[in-house]
Amino acid sequence: MDIASAKLIYFSPTRTTRKVVAGIAQGACAHKAEHIDLTPPDTALQALVEVNDDLAIIGAPVYAGRIPAEAASRLRRLRGNGTPAVIVVVYGNRAYEDALLELRDLALEAGFRPVAAGAFIGEHSFSGDATPIAVGRPDGDDLRMAEEFGRAIREKMKEMRALDDIPPLRVPGNFPYKDVAGLTGVTPVSGEGACARCGECASVCPTAAIAVREAAETDANLCIRCCACVKVCTIGARRMEDPRIRQVAEWLSANFRERREPETIL
Ligand SMILES: Cc1cc2nc3c(=O)[nH]c(=O)nc-3n(C[C@H](O)[C@H](O)[C@H](O)COP(=O)(O)O)c2cc1C
Repeated sequence: MDIASAKLIYFSPTRTTRKVVAGIAQGACAHKAEHIDLTPPDTALQALVEVNDDLAIIGAPVYAGRIPAEAASRLRRLRGNGTPAVIVVVYGNRAYEDALLELRDLALEAGFRPVAAGAFIGEHSFSGDATPIAVGRPDGDDLRMAEEFGRAIREKMKEMRALDDIPPLRVPGNFPYKDVAGLTGVTPVSGEGACARCGECASVCPTAAIAVREAAETDANLCIRCCACVKVCTIGARRMEDPRIRQVAEWLSANFRERREPETIL
């Protein structure tokens, strides 16, 4: 089976997952590659999306060892129609726990056929100057590995004659998946006087939680703490100042310095 057309499907608030998915697609060398970006809030409202391609590369970040609930609900809007799929999670150098298994199961439920899986590393959403965590990742080496993985997938697909040749894909993780104890009422804030009210933060928010009026106001019930708004703010006015998150960031920065490497399953 040749890969003539591919769909790159991802939820990626701070864009590290997107980079990894694009790297894999580069290696898999589809002549026609289209993006289905599930990150903007309007995708949450769209009707079912039919996928009928030679390959889908489906990526999501890891939040507390799981797939973000917001990403899972958007992925449920896809119909895979038997499209072979690469399952990819991107995590912030701590652990991916049950996320890869959960994403594989979501892909199966949506009618895809998982053929390969990968867990890659991205700069942690809570990383900052005082608490660096996996800064700059995926870096050149990670993206070379993503491309290499894409090439290996293309070779494997070439050897297959029919969809039924695809054996069930096993990935690490436990079911039932781990419980997510969500923080409530925690959001980044825009420093009074520092905010230029440019609206960039609102434009990248995947849940439309930010409204910029006299100041940037954030709806704590909608915010998923992805930190896309913090990373996009070029003047540093937008910050995650909640002491609980700062404590987590300090713990991650102190305890997860050792570089983890991407894992692939084919
Ligand atoms: C709420 C939240 C929870 C997270 N939980 C984990 C985790 O359990 N393990 C981990 O290694 N990284 C974790 N991360 C870091 C992200 O997985 C990582 O930064 C990823 O690269 C973000 O992907 P994106 O750039 O596509 O948004 C978490 C990030 C956020 C915002």
